[in-house]
Amino acid sequence: IADEAFIRRLPKAELHLHLEGSLEPELMFKLAERNNIELPYASVEEIRAAYDFTNLQSFLDIYYQCADVLRTEQDFYDLTWAYLLRCKEDGVVHTEPFFDPQTHTDRGIPFEVALNGIDRALCDGEEQLNITSGLIMCFLRHLSEEAAFATLEMAKPHLDKIIGVGLDSSEVGHPPEKFANVFAAAAELDLFLVAHAGEEGPSTYIETALDILDVDRIDHGVRCTDDPVLVDSLAENRVPLTVCPLSNTRLKVYDNMNQHPILKLLEQGVCVTVNSDDPAFFGGYLVDNYMALVEGLAMTRAEAVALAANSLEASFIDDELYEEWL
Ligand code: ADE
Ligand code: ZN
Repeated sequence: IADEAFIRRLPKAELHLHLEGSLEPELMFKLAERNNIELPYASVEEIRAAYDFTNLQSFLDIYYQCADVLRTEQDFYDLTWAYLLRCKEDGVVHTEPFFDPQTHTDRGIPFEVALNGIDRALCDGEEQLNITSGLIMCFLRHLSEEAAFATLEMAKPHLDKIIGVGLDSSEVGHPPEKFANVFAAAAELDLFLVAHAGEEGPSTYIETALDILDVDRIDHGVRCTDDPVLVDSLAENRVPLTVCPLSNTRLKVYDNMNQHPILKLLEQGVCVTVNSDDPAFFGGYLVDNYMALVEGLAMTRAEAVALAANSLEASFIDDELYEEWL
């Protein structure tokens, strides 16, 4: 059985982390005060008590509301820097975080305000913490493909600060193929491609993300277990899945961690990785997610090593760089 000190020391990459989802209640209060915003909660305890989710949408409603405290470039810097300090504690050597530009541009915050604050913190993280990174911007799938195109247009002058595009928000009813044209346009710009698929949505969304969007990785992807032929094909092609154990139990994809399929998929040869998704809302950062697998599934040291190695393999950094960590 793996233990916490062992897991903390393993060099790991985090490949599925929404920066807006790393906003801790303490920082939320600080930013609300700084920006003269009245929060609908009286205390940090009251906020944490509101984080009692029944499904993905019940979480997203609160998550978008909380993001309203992020107003200035410094706010985005502080958010990102706080996350990077947690990475350092957790032995994360490389991270490819997400941000949702439309959550900010739709309430009047310029694209550059969010991007520049995040980018400046990521640059400081490389210099001061020795954590390498690559930023991924996600399109909100409950909005139109036209709106995604407008976001891609805003990103064009800043492609030195963005390595890829993703797809997130409400999954069911918004299949990957809705975004076929904008993903093709992003591929033309040499951006990496990822998409949330098979979190709450069916396994067919994983297939269309791969076949129609031509993504390099699948975010979540756990519902592949409904289709054994798909699981074999994911294993054969080493398609990475960025799995988020605490997110899956908090959003009731599984009632209990002992039902989680990640270690079974690992055994079947699928390139599964461990990630924290929205740690401030789901009760834990990367090491906490590994420890949840120790507690729920009696994960061994060998399994923890394999998951950490998968995270480096699945990252978009040069293979030579990660071999130094293996
Ligand atoms: N946005 C932030 N976290 C998400 C998740 N787990 N699924 C879909 N959209 C998200
Ligand atoms: Zn996610």
